[in-house]
This record gives sequence, structure tokens and C-alpha cells, in this order.
Amino acid sequence: MKTCFPFALGLLAATATAFASPVLTVRVDQPGARINPAMWGAFFEDINFGADGGLYAEMVKNRGFEFPEPLMGWIMIHPALAKGEVTMRTDTPFDSANPHYVRIASEGTGPLGVSNEGFRGMGVRQGEAYDFSARVRAGSGACHLSVALYGGDGVLLDSVELSGFPATWTKVTATLHPSATDPKARLSVLSLGKGVLDLDFVSLFPEATWKHRPGGLRADMVQALADLHPGFLRFPGGCIVEGSVLARRYQWKRTLGPVEERRILINRWNQEFIHRPTPDYFQSFGLGFFEYFQLCEDIGAQPLPILNCGMACQFNSGELCPLDQLEPYIQDALDLVEFANGAPTTPWGARRAAMGHPAPFNMQLLGVGNEQWGPQYFERYSRFAAALKKKHPEIFLVSAAGPDPNPADPRFKLAWETLRGLHADLVDEHAYGRPDWFFSNVHRYDAYDRAGPKVFMGEYAAQSVAVVSPVNRSTLECALSEAAFMTGLERNAEVVRMASYAPLYANVDAWQWTPDLIWADSLRVLRTPSYYVQSLFARNRGDRVLPIDFDPAGTHLYASSVTDDASGAVTLKIVNADPAPASVVLRLEGVRGVTSMVVDTLGSEDLAATNTFDHPDEVVPRETRVTVGGSPTMQISLEGNSLTVLRLGVDR
Ligand code: AHR
Repeated sequence: MKTCFPFALGLLAATATAFASPVLTVRVDQPGARINPAMWGAFFEDINFGADGGLYAEMVKNRGFEFPEPLMGWIMIHPALAKGEVTMRTDTPFDSANPHYVRIASEGTGPLGVSNEGFRGMGVRQGEAYDFSARVRAGSGACHLSVALYGGDGVLLDSVELSGFPATWTKVTATLHPSATDPKARLSVLSLGKGVLDLDFVSLFPEATWKHRPGGLRADMVQALADLHPGFLRFPGGCIVEGSVLARRYQWKRTLGPVEERRILINRWNQEFIHRPTPDYFQSFGLGFFEYFQLCEDIGAQPLPILNCGMACQFNSGELCPLDQLEPYIQDALDLVEFANGAPTTPWGARRAAMGHPAPFNMQLLGVGNEQWGPQYFERYSRFAAALKKKHPEIFLVSAAGPDPNPADPRFKLAWETLRGLHADLVDEHAYGRPDWFFSNVHRYDAYDRAGPKVFMGEYAAQSVAVVSPVNRSTLECALSEAAFMTGLERNAEVVRMASYAPLYANVDAWQWTPDLIWADSLRVLRTPSYYVQSLFARNRGDRVLPIDFDPAGTHLYASSVTDDASGAVTLKIVNADPAPASVVLRLEGVRGVTSMVVDTLGSEDLAATNTFDHPDEVVPRETRVTVGGSPTMQISLEGNSLTVLRLGVDR
């Protein structure tokens, strides 16, 4: 049973030494390092059906019939009475980037065609509208099409009929209004009447996308991201940037322009884990670089694109682009800066303007490589850095420290030694480990060199069982260990400039990697305990670090403090990782008194507690407004197994 403890506060007139509780002194009058406004961000990768089947709201899987098995995701609808055939063809397609199409040759004795399952089912809502489109070409006869949505139980939810098709490829559209809400609907496109009809690029989007953009993003998933208040968005990966081989690397220029001209690519996570095979995982690039930049702008996050540096994933082939052939990769990076920031009079700025965004996207950050390591990386990174710094000294470059954050790891050591020598801007460390790792690394950055490159903790997440274990869960214990670790990042904001949890999204029916920050099914979004930790830190970022003196000996208490320039408010984040409530004497030095207090508490008696679609609010922050007595010293009580965020108005 869950018990909620009211936030307890005792005001002290006496000195703190009169109490057995540990004393937490905040030196409000000695503000330290400035905190990067983009300190707490998000990392998006197309993993776990995060883009196709996730954020990208397209509901038809394999809409262009371009998967290696062209009918993957589709079934033929060929009732016994329906005479004719459905064939796959590639001659005279509507677009050479999409060579495959379906030909339905019907004798008119019954409906004949294809039906799509969506990304493990299409989620449709009663009362909402869905935009259907397809490319159609009439061969002979007078065919017309039935476009229909069926529920998971086979009940017809809505249908429309389309007719009068020309003999050349044309785009047809229709709107469907399902009569019921269904998480596992299907879309059928059937030819009625006698004749031959060609069909391609079959698409279905909810009208209610994010900002109602046609062909846009899932509104509820973007909203969950926006609610995190991320200071930056790192995209599009992750290992998909690298590709298993270089031919399958992510190439941003191929993600621009009309969606039907964006050639699909097998997703690197399709075949990565034999215990979680996802043979139907491909990148449509409907969510391409323009859309990523637009998303960043929408949610007020700085864009941080990551580019392939001439190396395929070192967990896969590790294929290298020879150094003397690296120039196109570097040119892609230079062109990306121009695409994001260049005037509309420049070639790539003009391309952006033609897509409807003449204003620059103000990109300031760029990643060279993902999770690379070894001398081959530094040879390539240094060439990128030389070219980028020469032409765009205003761009901060993110470089890689490899997959293991432990100081004894030779790849990590070499990375730091080399990148320090190269005067790198930001070094991207990745940390996946059991909660213990995060608790024991709370002081990791206390001794980092302040004069060297800054740290970007670009991927981290506590793993309840083991890294890439399919039974990892996003428990409160994981979330608290991340929160404790984040107090260490915050205390060291002088050297740790940015941090992001990973991965961001997962489709409950099609994931490869767990834990993840946000889960989605075809209709709903689920925020995990780790999500609420991230949002509590981001919403209470502060402008400057406040030094604290805290010796929590014998307890598992972790703390950090910040202050806001504008309001002068003091914020404390305190993790109590012990099951029992804890009492702390809080002393604010350099203020006359505390005038107000708002407390957010995230916790539960059960460390294994998590949120599920059936019980999404098991672990959510609870806000309390506390009446304060004015004293700058007080005794506070912290729930067991909790993160507490205190926002204090102070009288200086
Ligand atoms: O976040 C999942 C993966 O973990 C990323 O793609 C990669 O960078 C890391 O190994």
C-alpha cells in the first residue's frame, strides 16, 4: 500500500549543532558557476520504433512497398469469389525513389486489394479525422476504390469510395472518421469493379498531429517531450547514425524534400538483438532533418545533430572511410551548418527557405560521430574539427569518449587524453549501469579538470537488471539513482555542461531496448519515474550553482542547490535513497530569512514501483506549498525513497 507523507518542516531558532540530523548548509551568498541554460536535454534516436511507429504519425507501415519484402506489413485481400490478381510491379513507377507498386487486376466479381496492419496496429479515435492519401493510376476498365478502416475485432469503423482515376499517376485523398476508438485497427484499400488499377504510397495520418501539421508528428508524444522542457535535443542517434556498415549510415541530405522521394533504409536496430528481432523496422525518414530542427524550435530546445564521422558502428562492422576519402563526410557537416544557419542566399540556406523556413534555426552544437573510440576516431575527428573550426568557429563540437565511462577503460582514457590535447569543446560520455553505479558516481565530476574540455553526459540510464537486459524496468530505484547522479552533474555544472537520458521513446509492442524514458502504444503515452526526475531537474534548472556543505555520513542522502537570477529563489534537490524518512537541518547562509516554500516530492515506499498503462500515476511528483516561519534555518523531513525539490523564496 502506498502512503503519502505530508511534507514536514520544523523551524529552528537554535543552532543546527543542537540536532543529530545531518546539516546541509547552502552558501547562498557565494553563487558559483553559471549553469548552461541548455543543461538538461533529451536524446532522440529512432530505436524502439521511436520515429516510424512512434513520433512520426504515419500509420501505414511500408507505405511505398519498398521493404525488401515488398508486402511486409500488408496482406492481400482476395476472397474466393473475387477473380483477378494482385501483383507487385516496378515498371513505370510514380517516382524512381519508390519503384515498387501494387497492381490490382480485378474481374469485378468481388473486392480485391491489400490491407495494412500499421505499426503493430493502428490506433484510431472516435470523433477524430484521419487523412488518407495514395498514388493511383487507372489501367483499364472503370475501377473504383474502397478505403476502409476495420477495428481489431473486424468491425468496419468507416469507409469511403473513390473513383474517376486518370491513366497517369495521381494523388488521391479522403478523410476517414472511425465510429469507435480502437488501438489495433487496419486499413484496407480494395478495388471494386472490373479493371486494372495501380496503387502506391498509401498513407494515413491523424488530422490532429502536433500543431496540426499535415503529415506531422504524434501530438501526445511531442507534448510529453515538450513537458520535459529539454534545453537541447540530440538527434537522430545513437548507433543509427553510424549504421552497421557505412552504406547504411544516416545521411541527413537524404531526409529532405518530398517524403515520397526519401528512400527508406533498414534500421540498424532491425537486426541488432537476436532476443528482440524486429524485421519490419525501417527508416522512412518522414521525420527528417528539417522536421527535427522544426521540432527543436517548437519546444524551445537547442538542436544538437550528430553526424557520421566516417566510421560504421564499432559494435558491428567498424568499417572505416579511408582518410583520403573523408571529404564528402566533412562537406556534409559544413553543409549542415549552412542548412541550419545560412542566409537564404546561400545554397543550403535557400534549400531551408524553400522548405518554408527562411529564418535560421540557430544551431550552435554539432556532434562528430556517436559512440566512437580508438585512434581511428581521433584521426577523423581532428579533420572534421579543423574544417569546421576554420569555417564555423561559432559551432561547439561534441566529440566521443566511447561506450564505457569508467576511468580505467583504455578507450575512455585515450579519448580524454587525446581530446584534451585537441582542445575539444564537449566530450560525450555514455553511462548505462545498475543503480549502484549511479549512486557510487555521484562525486565523479568533483575532481574533473575545470580548464579542459567540458563534459556532455549524452546518454545515461540506470538498468534495473543489466545493460540491454530485456527484463529491465524503469523502477523508482533506477530513477532515484539517476536523480542522485544528477545532483553530482548539477554541483559540477561548471564542467558538466549538458546531460540527456537515453533512450527517449519506446513502442510497447516493438521495442528493442529497455528501460526508456517514455513508452507509447498506438493511442497512449506513459511517463516513467525517470521521466519525472528529468522533468523536475529541467523545470528547476536555476542559473547558478550554490555551494553546499553536507556530510550525510551514515545515510544515503544526496543534494545540490541552485539559484535563479531573476527571482533570487533558492532551489534544493535532495535524494533520500534510504527506505526510512530522514531529517535534515537546512541552513541558508547569507539570507535573512525564507519567505516561501514549494515542495515537489517523487517517491514511494516501494523501490520497485513503476508506472504502467493501467496505473500511470504510481510514481508522480506531488506538489505541496508549505507555510514557513521566516527563519533561514529549519529542519526538514524527507520521505524514504524519494527525490525532494524545494523551491525557497528568500529575503536577502
Ligand atoms: O541508446 C541506445 C544506444 O546506446 C545508442 O544508440 C548508442 O549510442 C548506445 O550504445
